[in-house]
Amino acid sequence: MTSDTRTATDTANALIRASAVAISTGAGMSVESGLDTFRGEDGLWSKVDVNEMATPEAFQRDPTKVWAWYRYRRQKLSQVEPHEGHRVLAEWETRVPDLTVITQNIDGLHHRAGSQNVIELHGRLDVARCTYCDYNVQGLEDLGEEPSCPVCQKRLRPGVVWFGESLPDGAIETAFVAAQRCDVFLVIGTSGVVQPAASLIDVAKTYGATIIEINPNASEQSHLADIAIRAGCREALTEIDAAWRRSAS
Ligand code: APR
Repeated sequence: MTSDTRTATDTANALIRASAVAISTGAGMSVESGLDTFRGEDGLWSKVDVNEMATPEAFQRDPTKVWAWYRYRRQKLSQVEPHEGHRVLAEWETRVPDLTVITQNIDGLHHRAGSQNVIELHGRLDVARCTYCDYNVQGLEDLGEEPSCPVCQKRLRPGVVWFGESLPDGAIETAFVAAQRCDVFLVIGTSGVVQPAASLIDVAKTYGATIIEINPNASEQSHLADIAIRAGCREALTEIDAAWRRSAS
């Protein structure tokens, strides 16, 4: 058993007592579905230059190259599935009166696992949108090398938030409200370095939430955690869920 049973039980007890829970997830949540993290030795940013692939200026300079990378990631996404940890979070939504998942991930795996109340701060990889009009399309079918808008013929771009761009309307505001309101703030699989998502934990802490971190490694935010579970999220979440079920039986 990789995570300490005591912390799994302590976490389960905090969740049982909670009337509102906010869960903040990052790329580590999807590692066990086969997707890469961004930072760390094998992270995406060690293979691809952010400034060449993940900014509006990069797309302006070379839309074909940038789109090719997102096209490749879309194809990869069509071959992965949510793991047990995603399904556990979806199940907890039926047990906690007020549970919000706030994700930095663009893979849509929380939705596919059944979570309903999900705030996607950085958009979705399976969405493509027009660079000019309001047209957008969701799905993972291959849109080709240089897709153009069927309405106005301008280029399509990935429906994600690039560095330097603003988040979807209302997303971070709604996320901050969830962080303020929650009794338990669970932060899973994020290095805690990208704003404004990284500020959510500070808000939750300020408003008195119990902070629980699930991450095999320490992060920029570990010092704020009341409980730190140094394990992979699939194992940790299934152990917490088992402890919760034992308490409830
Ligand atoms: N379970 C839980 N956490 C894990 C696991 C796992 N199995 N494997 C790795 N991790 C942790 C790592 O220890 C790391 O702290 O996941 C974290 C991933 O950190 P990042 O790669 O920095 O990803 P994230 O924090 O989501 O990045 C935030 O940065 O580049 C932007 O838009 C991108 O949304 C992304 C944002």
